[in-house]
Amino acid sequence: MGQAYFITGTGTDIGKTIVTSFLYKILSNTGLKVAICKPFQTGYKEEIQGYPDIHWFESKLGVFNSGIYQLTPETSPHLAIRLTNQAVDKQVVITRIKELEKEFDIVLVEGAGGLAVPLIEEETGFYMTKDLIKDADIPIIIVSTSGLGAIHHTATTFSYAKTHGLCVKGLIFNQFDKKSDIHQDNIRTIEKLVDASLLACLPTFSDIDQDLTSYIENLMSNQHFITPLQEVFGYAIHK
Ligand SMILES: Nc1ncnc2c1ncn2[C@@H]1O[C@H](COP(=O)(O)OP(=O)(O)O)[C@@H](O)[C@H]1O
Ligand SMILES: [Mg+2]
Repeated sequence: MGQAYFITGTGTDIGKTIVTSFLYKILSNTGLKVAICKPFQTGYKEEIQGYPDIHWFESKLGVFNSGIYQLTPETSPHLAIRLTNQAVDKQVVITRIKELEKEFDIVLVEGAGGLAVPLIEEETGFYMTKDLIKDADIPIIIVSTSGLGAIHHTATTFSYAKTHGLCVKGLIFNQFDKKSDIHQDNIRTIEKLVDASLLACLPTFSDIDQDLTSYIENLMSNQHFITPLQEVFGYAIHK
């Protein structure tokens, strides 16, 4: 029986897909069977005749069938569902995650936006991203940017997660510039404010494909990186 992890962000376009790819590559490298699931993807793109994240996972990672619900409008899922009248069933999503957990060691579930994103509008309210995570009973990994605003965004996301009884397993910072005093201090401050393991600080890559692979090769020999990864994913990560 494997374990699913929900990859959420402190906002949209934060780097959840890049971080999901990073985790996929690094965990697969260690011999684990890893799946990716993107339950709700909105925003059909004519250029690729498809949906960006699902297309990315297929073309860059060779991961097929990561999607569950795809909705043409580039809006929040609840609005895209209303605009298209598409039939959506939250139980289908939960069941898929549970099936993937039976088949794979690790299942990386990429959210749409952040934890307070409404997924489905119901008669009495909204079925929110945090409700899906709670119902699927899986821990989360928060992805944040590293610059100005990161402290507030990470602290509020963490506090929202805790208020709703979610288990925050790890933090990953994206587009981290080790030469920036602000970035350095943000990570130090957030680590003090938030009780979750710091898993990685990904730099800005000029060629994501190539750079991500060499970046991972370097990280695998760094025990400071390996130890928290082992703690969070609970598997022996070999160098
Ligand atoms: N570390 C990075 N280096 C270079 N480009 C990045 C990095 N992280 C994100 N990007 C770019 O920023 C955009 C948003 O990233 P993405 O992972 O798709 O965000 P999200 O999944 O949170 O919406 C994409 O165009 C992606 O290629
Ligand atoms: Mg994405």
